[in-house]
Amino acid sequence: MSMPMTTARRLVELACNAPSVHNTQPWLWRIDGNQVRLHADHRRQLPAEDPDGRSLVISCGAALHQLQFAARALGWTSEVARTPRGDDPTLLAEVTFERGPASSQPVNDLAALRRRCTDRRRFTSWPVPDDILERLAGEARTWSAAALPITDLVSRFRLELLSNEATMLRESDPVAVGEQTAWVDRSDHDGVPLKVLPRVEQNAPPEDRRNRFGPGLVPETRTPVDGGDGVIVLGGRGDETADWLRTGEALSALWLRATRDGLSVVPLSLPVEIESIRFAMAESVLEGAFLPHLAVRIGWQAIGRTGLPRTPRRALDTVLLA
Ligand SMILES: Cc1cc2nc3c(=O)[nH]c(=O)nc-3n(C[C@H](O)[C@H](O)[C@H](O)COP(=O)(O)O)c2cc1C
Repeated sequence: MSMPMTTARRLVELACNAPSVHNTQPWLWRIDGNQVRLHADHRRQLPAEDPDGRSLVISCGAALHQLQFAARALGWTSEVARTPRGDDPTLLAEVTFERGPASSQPVNDLAALRRRCTDRRRFTSWPVPDDILERLAGEARTWSAAALPITDLVSRFRLELLSNEATMLRESDPVAVGEQTAWVDRSDHDGVPLKVLPRVEQNAPPEDRRNRFGPGLVPETRTPVDGGDGVIVLGGRGDETADWLRTGEALSALWLRATRDGLSVVPLSLPVEIESIRFAMAESVLEGAFLPHLAVRIGWQAIGRTGLPRTPRRALDTVLLA
């Protein structure tokens, strides 16, 4: 059965709910019958913070996962050719759809996709049990990425030190700081709005100021943090476009599973944006097991907290190629 154009457009629109670095939404799509092609939009790459385009491709990988996830919820199977490229270096994936069984809980799945967001407010101090972190890492691994929960104290401490070092190095790089600032409260269709960033108390301790974007408008809790956040590092054996795309798919799979479990996920890309820190992390935190592409913090938000407003998205017709 061929896929109606309206369904293909709906799937792409749902896929565009995906997280992306600084909400750059660096993707373009082409619909062709039962096939949807995903292209990288390098005009939206961050030259200072993401010179190799790793975060850009991870963002596209997350959208690729959400496309497949939405298709499954609506009763379509997806066959994906990753990085087929040919003579087009921007082509990241070709997805062919066939009619198939819908997921067992389509309504819940689509609701999770819409509900997923980056909630940077402080997590509660309830620890995330190791077996939950392991299950989330397992979800990521089914997408052929490497994923490791960082649970032992020494590795956690090393990661914390590297993360702090990354923050200091970044603060001394005015070009990168300027680039990041340009994506805060940028427009009604992209960037990170102030209305989703937590407000920070004037005399807050340094660990409460770690949101890379600086203070925003969302009231913050006074609950003390005890460093109980879960952390998972995602990566791969390689450092090529195909590896980053897999990491993006794994990121989205992990995030949607966490959302359905009531957990909050916040990516932590600063430590992997600075190459010297990224390699130190590979050595001292991962002990050479794989190359880190992104870390995520995972925790519980306080029960009964108000939801955050949605971050904006580009209009569907501006991301569709003719
Ligand atoms: C590759 C990647 C890196 C990201 N890095 C960070 C980060 O370092 N800090 C942060 O607060 N959010 C980070 N984010 C989250 C984005 O800012 C967020 O997805 C985007 O603003 C859209 O908002 P939403 O996730 O609420 O839909 C990252 C997302 C991706 C996909």
